[in-house]
Amino acid sequence: MTCTKMFLRSFSRRELKQFRYWAHVGFFILSLSFFILVKPYFGSIPILNFQLSMDTAFEIHVFGNTNSSQRSISGGKVIEKKQICNVSDPKFDFCDVAGDVRIHGMSSKIFAVLSQKDDLVENGSWNIRPYPRKANPWMMTTFITEFSVNATVGHEQAPNCTLNHSVPAVVFSAGGYAAVNHFHAFTDILVPLYAASAKFHGEVQFLITNLEEKWKMKYEGILKQLSRYEIIHIDTDDKVHCFPHMIVGLKHYMEMRIDAMTASKGYSMKEFRKLMRNAYSLKKLNAIKILHDTQEKPKLLIITRNETRKFLNADQVAELAIRMGFEVVISEALENLDEFSHIVNSCDVMMGLHGAGLTNLVFLPTNAILLQVVPWGNFEWMASNCFGDPALDMELKYMEYRIKEEESSLIKEYPIDHMVFRDPDAVHHNDWDKFKSIYLDKQDVIINVNRFNATLLKALELLHH
Ligand SMILES: *[C@@H]1O[C@H](CO)[C@@H](O)[C@H](O)[C@H]1NC(C)=O
Ligand SMILES: *[C@@H]1O[C@H](CO)[C@@H](O)[C@H](O)[C@H]1NC(C)=O
Ligand SMILES: *[C@@H]1O[C@H](CO)[C@@H](O)[C@H](O)[C@H]1NC(C)=O
Ligand SMILES: *[C@@H]1O[C@H](CO)[C@@H](O)[C@H](O)[C@H]1NC(C)=O
Ligand SMILES: *[C@@H]1O[C@H](CO)[C@@H](O)[C@H](O)[C@H]1NC(C)=O
Ligand SMILES: *[C@@H]1O[C@H](CO)[C@@H](O)[C@H](O)[C@H]1NC(C)=O
Ligand SMILES: *[C@@H]1O[C@H](CO)[C@@H](O)[C@H](O)[C@H]1NC(C)=O
Ligand SMILES: *[C@@H]1O[C@H](CO)[C@@H](O)[C@H](O)[C@H]1NC(C)=O
Repeated sequence: MTCTKMFLRSFSRRELKQFRYWAHVGFFILSLSFFILVKPYFGSIPILNFQLSMDTAFEIHVFGNTNSSQRSISGGKVIEKKQICNVSDPKFDFCDVAGDVRIHGMSSKIFAVLSQKDDLVENGSWNIRPYPRKANPWMMTTFITEFSVNATVGHEQAPNCTLNHSVPAVVFSAGGYAAVNHFHAFTDILVPLYAASAKFHGEVQFLITNLEEKWKMKYEGILKQLSRYEIIHIDTDDKVHCFPHMIVGLKHYMEMRIDAMTASKGYSMKEFRKLMRNAYSLKKLNAIKILHDTQEKPKLLIITRNETRKFLNADQVAELAIRMGFEVVISEALENLDEFSHIVNSCDVMMGLHGAGLTNLVFLPTNAILLQVVPWGNFEWMASNCFGDPALDMELKYMEYRIKEEESSLIKEYPIDHMVFRDPDAVHHNDWDKFKSIYLDKQDVIINVNRFNATLLKALELLHH
C-alpha cells in the first residue's frame, strides 16, 4: 500500500489554483507566498475511474535511420523489437524511443522518425503528460503540459533539426504538486528521475516542462549530479532538438522508493542517499555509535512547523532530550537545501510531525533514526508508506511515536468520546478535504514528555547498536 492508496488527491483545488494565480503574479511574490501555500501532505481521495487506454502500445521495429548498411540487412536479420509508448500503467505514461527523435518545445510535439517501412512497423501517436500522477486527472490537465508523440515513417512529416545532440534526453514536468511541495518534488520527480537516468552517468540532457526558476534553483544541486548538461526549459524553446534516444515521462512505483529491478542494477535508495551526499558535499557518513566511554553526544534534530500541525512544546521535548544526553537542534525545514542538508546530515536522530519536512531524511547519515510523530486520525499507514518504509530502504532506522488523545490539540475542540477520536474513518468517509480540515490543518501536538521519555531511551539504545 502506498500513501496514495486511500487518498488519491493531494492538494485541494483551491490550493493549486491559488498557486497558479500567484505563479502569474511574479517571482518575487511567489517566493513570499510559497511558504503560505505549501500545505505539505500528499494523500488523496480514491478516484477509481482511471481512464486506462489499454493495449494502445504496440511493438515496432526501430532502424538506424541514416544507416544504409543497417537498413539493407533489416529484411534478413532479427531486429530489436521496441515499444515506443506505454500508457497502460494507472500512474504514469511513458515513452522510450531510440533512433531519430525530434522535439519542438513550443508546440509540445515530439517526432520519432522511423526510416524504413516494414509490415511490422506501424505509425502511431500518443498524447503524454510527463508527470506520474495520472490518477489525479484534474491536477494533470490543469498543470501538466501535454506532448504529442508521433511515430512516423520518413522525415517528411518531422521538422528539420536545428540542433543535434549526441546524448539521450529525458522529458519530464516539474509542475503540479512537485512545484509546491518538497515531498512531491522527491517522490514524483527526483527519485524517479534518478531511477531513469543514473545509468547515463551524467551523459543525459534534461528537457523540463512547467519549470519554475525557483524550483530549478532549489533542486539544482541534485539535478547537476544526474546531468552534466544545462537544463533546457522546453516550453519556450523554439528550436527543434534532435536526439538519438529519448525518454518521455517518469516511472513511479512506490512513494520515495525504487522498484526492485532498477535497485538490483545498483540504483537503489541507498545509492540515492549517496547522491545527496555528493550533491551537497555532506561529510557525515554514519550516525554516531554510542559506546560506554564516548564523550560525544548524539544529536537530535526537532523539525518544527509554523503553520499547521505545530509542535506546541518542542522546547520541553528539547529539555528532556538534553537531560537524557542529546545535543538538540530545533529548526523548521528550511527552503535552502545547501544549508538545511548540512543541518540534517550532522544529526543522528531527526524527529518531526508527519509532513513534507520529513522528506529531508534523504540527508541523514547511515543508521541515523527517523522518528516520526504521528498525530491522531488513523494515518499510520500514510506515515509508514511515505516515510517509514523509505527510511528502511535508505539504511536508516525508523521509529514512530503515535500520540494519545490528550496530546492532540483536538481535545480542546471535541470531547474525548467524540467520533473525531473514536472513529476518524467514519468522520471523513475518505473525503480528503474533510480529513485534511480536521486532522491535518487543525491538529497541533503537545507531547507528553513523561510518556515520550521511553521513546527517546529506545532511540539511544538503537544508537548503541
Ligand atoms: C551502421 O551500422 C553498422 C552495422 O550495424 C555499424 O557497424 C555502423 O557503425 C553504423 N554506422 C553508423 C554511422 O551508425
Ligand atoms: C506497459 O506498462 C505496464 C504497466 O506498467 C506493464 O505491466 C507492461 O509490462 C508494459 N508493457 C510493456 C510491453 O513493456
Ligand atoms: C505510416 O505513415 C506513412 C506516411 O505517413 C504511410 O505512408 C504509411 O502507410 C503508414 N504506415 C502504417 C502502417 O500506418
Ligand atoms: C503524425 O503527424 C503528422 C503531421 O503532424 C500527421 O499528419 C499524422 O497524422 C500524425 N500521425 C499520426 C499517426 O497521428
Ligand atoms: C528541411 O530541409 C530540407 C533540405 O535540407 C528542405 O528541402 C525542407 O524543405 C526542409 N523542411 C522543412 C520543414 O523546413
Ligand atoms: C543534424 O544531423 C543530421 C543527420 O546527421 C544532419 O543531416 C543535419 O544537417 C544536422 N543538423 C544540424 C543543425 O547540425
Ligand atoms: C513560517 O516560516 C516561514 C519560513 O521560515 C517564514 O517565512 C514565515 O514567516 C513563518 N510564518 C509564521 C507565521 O511565523
Ligand atoms: C525517564 O523515565 C525513566 C523511567 O520512567 C526515569 O527513571 C528517568 O528518570 C526518566 N528520565 C528523564 C530524563 O526524565
